[in-house]
Amino acid sequence: MASLSIERLKKSYGAVEIIKGVDLSIADGEFVVFVGPSGCGKSTLLRMIAGLEEITSGELKIDGAVVNDLAPKERGIAMVFQSYALYPHKTVYDNMAFGLQIAGTDKAEIDAKVRNAARILKMEHLLDRRPNQLSGGQRQRVAIGRAIVRNPKVFLFDEPLSNLDAALRVTMRAELAKLHRDLAATMIYVTHDQVEAMTLADTIVVLEGGNVRQAGSPLELYHLPRNLFVAGFIGSPKMNMLPATVSAVAPAGLTVSAPWLAPTVIPVNPGGVAVGATVTVGIRPEHIQAGEGAVSVTGTVGLVERLGHQTIVEIAVSGGGLTALIDGETMTSPGETLTVGFHPKDAHVFDAAGEALTRLVVPEIAKVRKQRPAA
Ligand SMILES: Nc1ncnc2c1ncn2[C@@H]1O[C@H](COP(=O)(O)OP(=O)(O)O)[C@@H](O)[C@H]1O
Ligand SMILES: [Mg+2]
Repeated sequence: MASLSIERLKKSYGAVEIIKGVDLSIADGEFVVFVGPSGCGKSTLLRMIAGLEEITSGELKIDGAVVNDLAPKERGIAMVFQSYALYPHKTVYDNMAFGLQIAGTDKAEIDAKVRNAARILKMEHLLDRRPNQLSGGQRQRVAIGRAIVRNPKVFLFDEPLSNLDAALRVTMRAELAKLHRDLAATMIYVTHDQVEAMTLADTIVVLEGGNVRQAGSPLELYHLPRNLFVAGFIGSPKMNMLPATVSAVAPAGLTVSAPWLAPTVIPVNPGGVAVGATVTVGIRPEHIQAGEGAVSVTGTVGLVERLGHQTIVEIAVSGGGLTALIDGETMTSPGETLTVGFHPKDAHVFDAAGEALTRLVVPEIAKVRKQRPAA
């Protein structure tokens, strides 16, 4: 097992800088998830760690030693890809054994390692099959098995579940969490799926345009997003973000108002924000309820999406729109006037630069880290 330290890491292709100076430290046994929109540099960063892409500048250390110039196989890392990259003519057994056979590992040792991986992945009965005789989930398990037999210090996963259907993704997600617990290995996992990120990670690293926008535990990112980008990326449906004007500043919070919002004190540290400034008020759809609240807003219902136990409602309010995630049994329909409510302590405020003002009332749950099942 291993710790990693990434310092001022950059990658350019020609004149184009893709990774713009990433600093991260990853503890031994940690499960770190890189998330961000397509093209933000997740795979590039992972491939730089694997040694599949040259590092333009900066340092990558594994267990304290700089590995910038080490070949992939000398780094003690195993990578699992979205496209399973299995040999179609080889059996499951040989697909898992191949890397060790090439390395000249003793036959009995290979056999023990392949059978151990098959046991961990519950595929002992599939060892004689070829990839085309397997389901997508089983193929992905073979690819993971191929990584396990190498007994790597660090596992790297690049969107390993993206080719699977929704139900299988849920199952495999739980299996990966269990694998992490059983192997106690350091794992770095790339995904664009925020549910995977929230459920698997000890630490989520949110990337945008080759920069880290925030790194923290899933609930820290959800409750204390540091900027508009992270606030909008974590959480679904997306956080509502509306402009408002600051009418008073006090240690207990900012008073803001807008065409849709009567003057309201939001408990955030005003920082450098002055009276008259325009800020962005952020409210998550799940923090808005149907009916009056501590703060009430009235508007016209647009789209209504009924999910069963919850309903997503778009509400046109003066000067903007709000999305609310309300109780599924609420009777409402498009065109109707609807009053909804929220509590100011649930609101976020971002300054003109899009940086969050520090919240003064932080829910206790924001401190909870990943809760693992007992072994
Ligand atoms: N070999 C390459 N040459 C030039 N540009 C590349 C190369 N590989 C990736 N890129 C660019 O780097 C950016 C990040 O790509 P990638 O790391 O694959 O993003 P992600 O995995 O987050 O979707 C993209 O804009 C992509 O076009
Ligand atoms: Mg990618």
